[in-house]
Amino acid sequence: MKIMLNMAMGMMVLVSASLVQAQMKPAELTAAQSAFSAYGCTSCHDASSRIVGPSLKEIAARYKGKKVSAEVAKRIVEGSEGRWGTMPHPSNAALNQADAALLARWILAGAP
Ligand code: HEC
Repeated sequence: MKIMLNMAMGMMVLVSASLVQAQMKPAELTAAQSAFSAYGCTSCHDASSRIVGPSLKEIAARYKGKKVSAEVAKRIVEGSEGRWGTMPHPSNAALNQADAALLARWILAGAP
């Protein structure tokens, strides 16, 4: 019985650890949301409908479960072409690496 209990506790620790990893801290969420509008991303991206670029929902769905935040962050800074359609993604030299990484994580998490 004790062993079963220990196993159950271990499982709970594992589950909560992975939940924490997937979630972003409230401060990070706020920072990502304001960076998204401050850098003008909103003129081409909407949460759920396609404007010039794909919706944030579509992007999160396409990469769900894949470890791509580093390459996505790189494409946000350097630009991208031909992955979603014919419109190219502009490069964004004003965006620093930390903000790009934060935006990539936020978008891949479903832009909560
Ligand atoms: C001028 C319009 C425009 C602006 C501004 C813009 N995007 Fe995009 N974005 C696009 C287009 C078009 C694509 C699709 C590019 C392609 O097909 O490769 C795209 C694709 C993306 C993708 C998916 C990349 C991938 O790896 O598949 C992400 C993430 C993204 N944009 C985030 C952002 C963020 C964050 C900003 C603000 C810093 C931003 N975009 C600003 C037009 C824009």
